[in-house]
Amino acid sequence: MNKYLFDKLPCGCEVTAYEIGNDTVRATILNYGGIIQKLLYRGTDIIGGYDKIEGYRVSDGYQGALIGRYANRIRGGRFTLNGVDYQLAQNESARGNHLHGGDIGYDAKLWDVEYKQDCDGEHLILTLTDPDGTENYPGTVNVRVTYSVCGENFSIHYEAVSDKDTPFNMTNHAYLNMNGIAGGQIYDQTLQVNADFMSKVDEHLIPVDKVPVDGTAFDFRTPKLLSRELMTCDDPQMVIGGGLDHNLYITTDEATLYQGKKLSKAAVFAGKLGALTLYTDKPCVQFYAANFMEGEYPFKGGLKREKNGALCLETQFAPDGPNRGEAILKAGDKYDYTALFRFDV
Ligand code: GAL
Repeated sequence: MNKYLFDKLPCGCEVTAYEIGNDTVRATILNYGGIIQKLLYRGTDIIGGYDKIEGYRVSDGYQGALIGRYANRIRGGRFTLNGVDYQLAQNESARGNHLHGGDIGYDAKLWDVEYKQDCDGEHLILTLTDPDGTENYPGTVNVRVTYSVCGENFSIHYEAVSDKDTPFNMTNHAYLNMNGIAGGQIYDQTLQVNADFMSKVDEHLIPVDKVPVDGTAFDFRTPKLLSRELMTCDDPQMVIGGGLDHNLYITTDEATLYQGKKLSKAAVFAGKLGALTLYTDKPCVQFYAANFMEGEYPFKGGLKREKNGALCLETQFAPDGPNRGEAILKAGDKYDYTALFRFDV
C-alpha cells in the first residue's frame, strides 16, 4: 500500500490517497467521499476523476464517490416511515427530487480509513458514523465500506447498522471507460446485462412501473453496442432519460462465489482494453451513460469531460424505494451487500 497527501480541503483538513493493487488492477482511494480517484487496468486509468479535490467539490457528477444514505432518487424528497412523514432536501432542483443522499451526502464526507492485507489481497476499510437527523434521515447509522483488490477482482463491500428504521441504499458512482478514460466516448463499447425487467420512469425519472425489456432499447440480454444511435433513439424511455440512465432488475441465474457470498452476474462492459464483469447481490443496477458529464472543469491531466465519455454501473435498490415500502434498513439489522468488478486476465 502506498499512502500520500492528495490535497487539502478549504477547512485545512488533509485528504489522503491510498493506493492498493497489483499489475492487473490498481486502485487509488481517497478518504474524502471514499472516492476511487484512479482505477488502473493493466496500467491504463479507466475511471473519471480529478487531480485536485476542488474538481470533486465543484462538479455535481459524484465522480468515483460513495453514495448514501440513499442512492438515486426519492420523489419530492418525501417518504413516510412508521407513520412519520419525512421531508428530505430536494437537491435535484430541476425535478424536485432528493438525489444521492441530499445536500451533503457520503460523497462529501471524510471517512476513517484502515488498511489490511491477507492472502487474498489488499483491503481498505472505510468507516463513517452518520448521526440521527443528518439530512433529516432517521437513525444513527454506522457505515463500513471495504474496497478490496484480490487478483483480477476489485470489490466494494457495503455494511451498515442503524439504531432506527431508515431508508438505506448505498452505491459507488464510478464513471468507467473500457478504452481508458482518455479513450473518448463509449460508442464503440459493448454492454450485456442479465436483466429481463427494468423500471419505467416518468418525466421526473421516478419509477412508475416494472416492465419487461423485451422489444425495447433496454434489451441488453445479448451484448449490444452503446452506440450514439442507441442512446439517441426514439424509445420513449430513452428520450425521457436523455439517453441511458435507467434501473434494470438483475436476474439471479448465473452466480460466482466471492468472499464467502453468492453474487449474481449482472453485466459485462467491454472495450478495447478488455471486459469487466459486474457481480452483485443487490437486486438492481442503474446504468448511466454520463449524459450530463460535459463541463468546463477538466478531468485528470487536463482531459476534456464529454457527454457519454463513460458508463456508471451503480448497484442499488430501485429508485424511490421508500415510497414503495422498499429499501428500509430495520433498526439493529445488518445491511450487507457487495459489488464485484472482475477484470479479464
Ligand atoms: C445517476 C443518475 C443520473 C444523474 C447522475 C449524477 O445515478 O441516474 O440521473 O443524476 O447520477 O449526475
